[in-house]
Amino acid sequence: MCGIVGYLGEKEATPILIEGLERLEYRGYDSAGIAVSVEDEIDVVKKAGKLKVLKEAISENPPAGKVGIGHTRWATHGSPSDLNSHPHSDCTGDFVIVHNGIIENFQQLKDELVDKGHSFRSETDTEVIAHLIEENYQGKLREAVLKVARMLEGSYALAILSKREPGKIIAIRRDSPLIVGIGEDENYIASDIPAFLQYTNQFYILDDEELAEVTRDNISLYDAAGNRIEKDVFVVNWDAEMAEKGGYEHFMLKEIHEEPDAIRRVLSNRVTPGNVDLSEINLSSEEIRNYDKIHIVACGTASYAGIMGKYVIEELVRMPVEVDIASEFRYRQPLIDENSLVIVVSQSGETADTLASLRLAQKKGAKVLAFTNVTGSSIAREADEVLYLQAGPEIAVASTKAYINMVVAFYILALYLAKVRSTVTEDRLYELIEEVLRLPKLATETIEKSLELVKERARVYKLQDNAFFIGRNIDFALSLEGALKLKEISYIHAEAYPAGELKHGPLALIEDGVPVVAIATRLSLYDKMLSNIKEVKARGADVLAITFEGETEVEKSVDHVIYIPRINELFSGALAIIPMHLLAYYTSLERGYDVDQPRNLAKSVTVE
Ligand code: AGP
Repeated sequence: MCGIVGYLGEKEATPILIEGLERLEYRGYDSAGIAVSVEDEIDVVKKAGKLKVLKEAISENPPAGKVGIGHTRWATHGSPSDLNSHPHSDCTGDFVIVHNGIIENFQQLKDELVDKGHSFRSETDTEVIAHLIEENYQGKLREAVLKVARMLEGSYALAILSKREPGKIIAIRRDSPLIVGIGEDENYIASDIPAFLQYTNQFYILDDEELAEVTRDNISLYDAAGNRIEKDVFVVNWDAEMAEKGGYEHFMLKEIHEEPDAIRRVLSNRVTPGNVDLSEINLSSEEIRNYDKIHIVACGTASYAGIMGKYVIEELVRMPVEVDIASEFRYRQPLIDENSLVIVVSQSGETADTLASLRLAQKKGAKVLAFTNVTGSSIAREADEVLYLQAGPEIAVASTKAYINMVVAFYILALYLAKVRSTVTEDRLYELIEEVLRLPKLATETIEKSLELVKERARVYKLQDNAFFIGRNIDFALSLEGALKLKEISYIHAEAYPAGELKHGPLALIEDGVPVVAIATRLSLYDKMLSNIKEVKARGADVLAITFEGETEVEKSVDHVIYIPRINELFSGALAIIPMHLLAYYTSLERGYDVDQPRNLAKSVTVE
């Protein structure tokens, strides 16, 4: 959500900034801009719309210069217009800034600045920062920025250029990510690693309130009090190609096809024949035995993975598990203490509500374990313990391989807790481990076997306005994810319901041709699902069932069936979701939408 880039070096900055912004497009945005400085001049170009609008605007006369900053904006304060786009500057145009985050006290600061004679051009909260720097500059940009940062309430990642101190960028952050890339005779600033991974794999990851003063051949780091600090260089092992589309039409399709490998990675070294080992997380056997409750807190898809986690942990470990949406959890005065284990789940590791929930849980004395995909992210750094999802970079806004790895991470954790708390016998544990180890291979089979029918169904779904996803138990957890995926990228209104709940309301909406995806992998509840399927079929629904190979009874009651390979029914979720990810993708494609960057959504939701 909002992307920041910065470059200082020997090359022309404009193409490098644009390229960096393109690599951050996954974060979601609705306008973009750059500022490039030559000696004591700064050339600013900014446009509402996608990057191609900005590229057209600069095509004939690109800003020249070897130092610059760039931004993709996801509108919060003020519409996505040219004027509200970043960069923003002060009254004199001497201080030019890009910002990611929200300044909560901007109105009060703006009123004070207006009283002092400052005039504002935009409706943004960001612009106050440029005017505050103008107001507080006394010959040292770094000092002015630190002073201004202390006046700001809310979140920010900032990159700042100034005519008064050319050849320099000041970067500072609080609650919004910012990194500094280390090159040879050139340096970079970005919201996220993929922006400049093709140029360097070495980064400083700024922590809250830290400031970087960057020139082409030097990076100096400071804390909030202005003291010099040293930080370890963070070396990234992904290569630039790993973050590319790898020959697929869209990142989402590539990421779905990477699901089997992603599962393999999350299992690797943790689950081996006959053993499950999570010694990488510092949870002693005594702690594990003493916990009386688990709380899972997350947003969106990650929360649906959490619901799956609840079913699996409660069944295997016989421990109560509560699942909360993070934006609810943080304001509901949750009853947690040092006997609760809190698990926060976040692909990006930057989701504002999840991060706030983590902090709240820690404040209440609970230990927080994070499942995240992004090393060095805020959640990874602040959690007490981290289990990395190892899904590899996920670029499409719709989460697919990271969701599956969240689910598999819950399988691993459940098996580990069951082992430590001895809630399953050794033989059963052995069998369950064998089953989990089959997942990567079976995921490949699932993709191959479901692809054609999914493509055919997408051609029918593209004409629909509504769809329902139903299931019981873990199949209900899956239906939530299936419905979210369809709605977020195909814009079809999709609802998920526990199948037994249909007759308490939603059945009224079922009529001829309404698509219903019925997930029936919980074999102990199979007959009950068949009855629910008959209820919707009798009212004219077009039913697509997802069940195990061999469960052919369902064919009598539905229009189409996707069969997934047989596996212990507790772990069917990691396979059964695959055709739903594909269905969402192909339906969006059929409808001609921007699959990787759906309207109104951002990959990384760093504001409340
Ligand atoms: C996933 O498809 C969604 N785009 C969204 O619900 C996402 O899962 C949610 O915003 C949480 O993100 P996180 O995992 O990065 O915290």
